Amino acid sequence: MDKLIYLDNGATSFPKPEEVYAFMDSFHRSNGVSPGRSGCDLSIETGTVIEEARLALTGYFNGTDPDRLVFALNSTDGLNLVISGLLSPGDHVITTNVEHNAVLRPLHHQALYNGVEVDHVPFDGSGFVNPEDFIPLFKENTRLVVVNHASNVIGTVQPIREIGRICREHGVTFLVDASQTAGKIPVDMVENNIDVVAFTGHKSLLGPTGIGGFYVREGVDIRHTRAGGTGVKSAQLHHLEEYPYRMEYGTPNIVGIAGLLAGFRWIKCRGMEDIHAHEMALTRLFVQGLQDIEGVTLYCQDDLANHISVVSFNVDGFEASNVGTIIDGEYNIVCRTGLQCAPFVHKQLGTDTIHGTVRMGFGPFNTKEHIRVAVDAVREIAGTYGK
Ligand SMILES: Cc1ncc(COP(=O)(O)O)c(C=O)c1O
Repeated sequence: MDKLIYLDNGATSFPKPEEVYAFMDSFHRSNGVSPGRSGCDLSIETGTVIEEARLALTGYFNGTDPDRLVFALNSTDGLNLVISGLLSPGDHVITTNVEHNAVLRPLHHQALYNGVEVDHVPFDGSGFVNPEDFIPLFKENTRLVVVNHASNVIGTVQPIREIGRICREHGVTFLVDASQTAGKIPVDMVENNIDVVAFTGHKSLLGPTGIGGFYVREGVDIRHTRAGGTGVKSAQLHHLEEYPYRMEYGTPNIVGIAGLLAGFRWIKCRGMEDIHAHEMALTRLFVQGLQDIEGVTLYCQDDLANHISVVSFNVDGFEASNVGTIIDGEYNIVCRTGLQCAPFVHKQLGTDTIHGTVRMGFGPFNTKEHIRVAVDAVREIAGTYGK
């Protein structure tokens, strides 16, 4: 069988740059000890890598204090900590239909157990929310606005600058889920009036799984809903109030943080803009290829100006999962099918009733040849039906 073609970079980037594997390995072998728990050189060196990662990501998000860059397991973990630490019973939240379950489920949990009210702003036919649609939804008890920066289903990048401005005018905390965009395009907290931004390490930041987190702007305080560990001020029973310990619990994922740092360094070295331009050139090629195939429906791909390299489609007469199975079994191409953890996107597109879409996501290591093979595969599958 032909060599595997990995087109599921929307789920996680694969492979990682060689430098990520190499640094994780060497770091684990030479510095795999707890940071900050003792004054020994090894422990101090480990701490230095963690601080370098905090500093790098703080700079990327245009934050000012690396201590407010908090590491967590991934963005789902970070979003849970932020959402549960910000909301109180009776609060109101505005979010969108573009959200991933990493946002929808913590909000649903708050609605169920804490009486939090949640409103969802729909997207237009091209996949973008209109900032003006948020304005009439603000109420006296609105505490939080949560917006997905880029959709993991349709790839649209939301107008966070305008939404951030509106939130600031209303004095409401603005939380951005940058899981798909962090490492791909700029995510500037100052320009966009973002109060908290959540990221995951294993997608566009090209790090391993099991590492992510969030940055909290100065002036925004989040209650800690967990407690314990850290190895700092051990005589004190009350969990630490100061960042980052306030929101970090137990021994950190030092190898994950090292991998994340190596991924970030690789992106800096290659140029984030160049990587994104490469991925979007492949996306254009793929979309153009699919547009020429009869029986293929593309979702929200008409204008790729404010997009990332994620494309959803269906083939007439096929369940999305069947297309995925054929593409995997016959063509050795990895993609994702179904609802992609974003049920409201599919509800609004009407694809929930046909079990979702086929999604492909292109990364820095994909090539034009991969796209050619994928387009040919979809053409053959679409041509098979009805014959
Ligand atoms: C938009 C979005 N938010 C959140 C997540 C959750 O990321 P993680 O599984 O790393 O927590 C994903 C992952 O698919 C995503 O695409």
